[in-house]
Amino acid sequence: MDQNHKKKPSKNKGYYVKMKLMHKHGIRPQQQEKNHFHKYYKWILWLSLSLYFFTSYLISNNNNHNHNNNIKHHQITSTIKSLSQSLSIKKTTSSPQTLQKTSLKNLKIFVYDLPPKYNKNWLKNPRCKTHLFASEVAIHRALLTSDVRTFDPYEADFFFVPVYVSCNFSTVNGFPAIGHARSLISSAVKLISTEYPFWNRSTGSDHVFVASHDFGSCFHTLEDVAMKDGVPEIMKNSIVLQTFGVTYDHPCQKVEHVVIPPFVSPESVRNTLENFPVNGRRDIWVFFRGKMEVHPKNVSGRFYSKKVRTVIWKKFNGDRRFYLRRHRFAGYQSEIARSVFCLCPLGWAPWSPRLVESVALGCVPVIIADSIRLPFSSAVNWPEISVTVAEKDVWRLGEILEKVAATNLSIIQRNLWDPRTRKALLFNSRVHEGDATWQVLHSLSEKVDRSYRSSRVSRQLEFDT
Ligand SMILES: *[C@@H]1O[C@H](CO)[C@@H](O)[C@H](O)[C@H]1NC(C)=O
Ligand SMILES: *[C@@H]1O[C@H](CO)[C@@H](O)[C@H](O)[C@H]1NC(C)=O
Ligand SMILES: *[C@@H]1O[C@H](CO)[C@@H](O)[C@H](O)[C@H]1NC(C)=O
Ligand SMILES: *[C@@H]1O[C@H](CO)[C@@H](O)[C@H](O)[C@H]1NC(C)=O
Repeated sequence: MDQNHKKKPSKNKGYYVKMKLMHKHGIRPQQQEKNHFHKYYKWILWLSLSLYFFTSYLISNNNNHNHNNNIKHHQITSTIKSLSQSLSIKKTTSSPQTLQKTSLKNLKIFVYDLPPKYNKNWLKNPRCKTHLFASEVAIHRALLTSDVRTFDPYEADFFFVPVYVSCNFSTVNGFPAIGHARSLISSAVKLISTEYPFWNRSTGSDHVFVASHDFGSCFHTLEDVAMKDGVPEIMKNSIVLQTFGVTYDHPCQKVEHVVIPPFVSPESVRNTLENFPVNGRRDIWVFFRGKMEVHPKNVSGRFYSKKVRTVIWKKFNGDRRFYLRRHRFAGYQSEIARSVFCLCPLGWAPWSPRLVESVALGCVPVIIADSIRLPFSSAVNWPEISVTVAEKDVWRLGEILEKVAATNLSIIQRNLWDPRTRKALLFNSRVHEGDATWQVLHSLSEKVDRSYRSSRVSRQLEFDT
């Protein structure tokens, strides 16, 4: 373990205290903005009122046009009313993005410096930071250079435990083998809980892990085994950032968690968009490329994706409006960028990388996954940028999409093509306001009551007042 971070950095204590005082007494930029607006708002009201009194003075001094005066009087009063109404509306209804802007608070995160066998060593394989589960790498990397990172664990609200578990790719099929995940994580927890006091003092409740593969912190690729094994005892009290999310009760989300998108490389999206802009020509009407097994799988009474995919294939293969392909193709992003609708049926687990790529490339995602929970619903207004089709209605897909195309397709596309939507689902190597790592931070800032430090601070404040 890195010697530098073992002990409380007493040398720098003065600096931290200063910073804290500044946070306490200084005015934050957002507050300043608000104050400006407040001043401005008062000015307009004041001006309008003076104008009103001045004009009514003029009017009442002119007795010859009594009838007109009343009308003018009414007009002015209503102008003032609507003016102040529009001002107060402006004040209360801002878009989710602007609301969020003010709400990262003073979040502080301490990132454990673990020995390289827990993380960096895995990067020897370049796929580790680009594949579908690479958010475990991307979030760690972005946090290291982020403003919310603190080197003083005593002022941290949360503790990030950077263990990469998805990069042990099978030599047989290239899929991540996650059999070692539980032991790797528990060994990391053993290490931090003996070397530092922070795990024990909160029993891990302010510690954050990433579990970006199929069934999140259940760490198994088969759902029935994942369900049986459940979330490891050691993580049960912590916060897990996971792609897995369903609206019903499921053992693999019985932990405080944030649903995050799977990793899609922002560079690859940028490159594709250079050749195929979102508002460019879309000559494919409905697109899907992926596995379409013929035999549906019955797990715990729930028919998974395979059945939906089978229906799609059987019913629409041969329909000229549908562009369906069963085999891998490296250039599939350009196909998405050329399509109006992109089918996002449930994958192996109830989330889909296609969803992120469709949104990023401006193809309207058609979500066919009953009871899925989508990532960052506070930032991404999913019902406004996608079409949802119930699994049982999949055979009517053609009809349903025709109806959308004839009614509200352009509205959906306009919402979808807002660059803020795409941004929220992509993990950059540095945190950008509004991007996926930023959304994670925002979600954490709303869970600050789980933080040992923050609960102490608020108790202290209660005591003081
Ligand atoms: C990686 O996975 C293989 C099985 O595919 C396993 O034998 C090996 O021990 C794993 N490596 C580590 C470092 O856990
Ligand atoms: C935390 O608790 C564990 C188990 O009780 C113990 O082994 C460990 O030494 C404790 N850590 C510290 C820093 O006291
Ligand atoms: C699916 O599984 C459930 C319970 O595991 C069972 O009751 C049901 O009969 C199965 N359905 C089929 C078609 O095999
Ligand atoms: C588009 O129309 C469909 C019905 O055809 C409706 O279910 C959906 O909510 C509409 N979406 C938007 C964003 O207006």
